[in-house]
Amino acid sequence: VAPLKVGIVGLGNVGTGVARILTDHPHRIAERAGRPIVLKRAVVRNLNKPRDIRLESGVLTNDIQAVINDPEITVAMELMGGIHPAREVILALLKAGKDVVTANKALLCEHGNEIFHAAREYGRTVCFEAAVAGGIPIIAAVGQSMAANQIIAIQAILNGTSNYILTEMQANHQHYHTALKQAQDLGYAESDPTLDVNGLDAAQKLGILCQLAFGTRVTTSQFEIQGIDSLDLSDLKCASDLGYHIKLLAQARLTNRELEMSVRPTLIRKDTPLSQISGPFNAVLLEGDMVGKMWYSGRGAGQAPTASACAADLIDLAVGRAQLTFERLDLWRERPEYPVMPAD
Ligand code: HSE
Repeated sequence: VAPLKVGIVGLGNVGTGVARILTDHPHRIAERAGRPIVLKRAVVRNLNKPRDIRLESGVLTNDIQAVINDPEITVAMELMGGIHPAREVILALLKAGKDVVTANKALLCEHGNEIFHAAREYGRTVCFEAAVAGGIPIIAAVGQSMAANQIIAIQAILNGTSNYILTEMQANHQHYHTALKQAQDLGYAESDPTLDVNGLDAAQKLGILCQLAFGTRVTTSQFEIQGIDSLDLSDLKCASDLGYHIKLLAQARLTNRELEMSVRPTLIRKDTPLSQISGPFNAVLLEGDMVGKMWYSGRGAGQAPTASACAADLIDLAVGRAQLTFERLDLWRERPEYPVMPAD
């Protein structure tokens, strides 16, 4: 069977992880995808930057057109992050007839409607399992496994960096800035770590989950967002003395037809499962009207878990699962019966 040829745009932490999976495990991937998946091009800004991955000659390029204009490349992965030029790149890739895999939560939260509309228009598919909660298959859970339910509530820890910092401060009495530096060194943080610690990264992920779960378009300007950047050791110690851990909690609840959402540091009793989520782990508690409560936890940040979710999207595209799901999901189409965000 002819191989699926892939172009990666952006060879940072996650892009390198995906390239590594494709080059280190070609047989495993081919078996699960029904055909080989081959990395044909990887677009980078700087060709001379040292990289800790060996790629075949001719794969690296600094010309995005080498992916857009190559008819052999049928799937492109946008792994640059940020809104611009990622938005323009994805729209160009869709227009050129490529399916797209992205881990870009900022872009999908704020401009998902435009991206998904374009995908429909050009008959393409956009996969984004890695955009929320890293290695936890939460997009599949909300979009597929719980498809017969009305989700009523989401409670989640969605930022691995913040959770790592809080764990280090709580358990090892590390100072905030030392723990943040460690999270950056371990590859958990965004290139601008402000987004991790001010709650915006978690809010973007909650926004995507809510758009998927409730059909309602949500942007981060519509709900309360507070990060962990104003906490210090004494806050954590005080909470601990009272029997609580502090977690950056993302919450959404459907009451009547209104959707209440927030991201904020929250006191969680030490004897509850959420308080045990430590380091770069994420957790998501979903409540559906049929299944009741469902609990997911796992690595929410870091190269290998995030890249594994991207590679799973590639396999889904190769076998046709992703296309079916995308068509069925009816993403980002406003309908009058969808819940509304409360007015300010
Ligand atoms: N910076 C993000 C986090 C990476 O710490 O959770 C995963 O999206």
